[in-house]
Amino acid sequence: MSNRTLILVKPDAVKRGLVGRIIQRFEDKGFKLLDIKMVEMNREMAENFYSVHKGKPFFENLVSFITSGPVVAVIMEGRNAIDAVRVMIGSTDASKAAPGSVRGDFSLGLTDNSIHASDSEESFTRETAALGMQ
Ligand code: CMP
Repeated sequence: MSNRTLILVKPDAVKRGLVGRIIQRFEDKGFKLLDIKMVEMNREMAENFYSVHKGKPFFENLVSFITSGPVVAVIMEGRNAIDAVRVMIGSTDASKAAPGSVRGDFSLGLTDNSIHASDSEESFTRETAALGMQ
């Protein structure tokens, strides 16, 4: 059970002006923000951030999307943070995400699905390093 996690508000949600509303949900739930940063990821950062997906058919599309505009990265702390936040963001394919989840309420995309959250402690460590946080 890890008490810290990272979320990324993705370029589609930043462009649509959803940053505040998305982060508000995690504060409302009880998470404490430890660090927040707006970042324009370059290709190298994106490849490191998403290195576990290298070689998958959607990798190029994913890298080009995540580098298409600024993202907002937030490190937050709270009980069982990794699992609790994964529940709150909803299914990867936003068109199938449950209402009440971030993706379920704000998006329809698979690539442009508005938010990412760490799925393990190893991912959290890799992702924060790729962003130059921590
Ligand atoms: P994310 O949680 O950021 O982790 C990897 C991302 O790859 C995922 O959200 C999706 O936005 C994106 N992606 C694009 N196509 C696919 C796919 N076919 N399967 C899984 N993830 C995909």
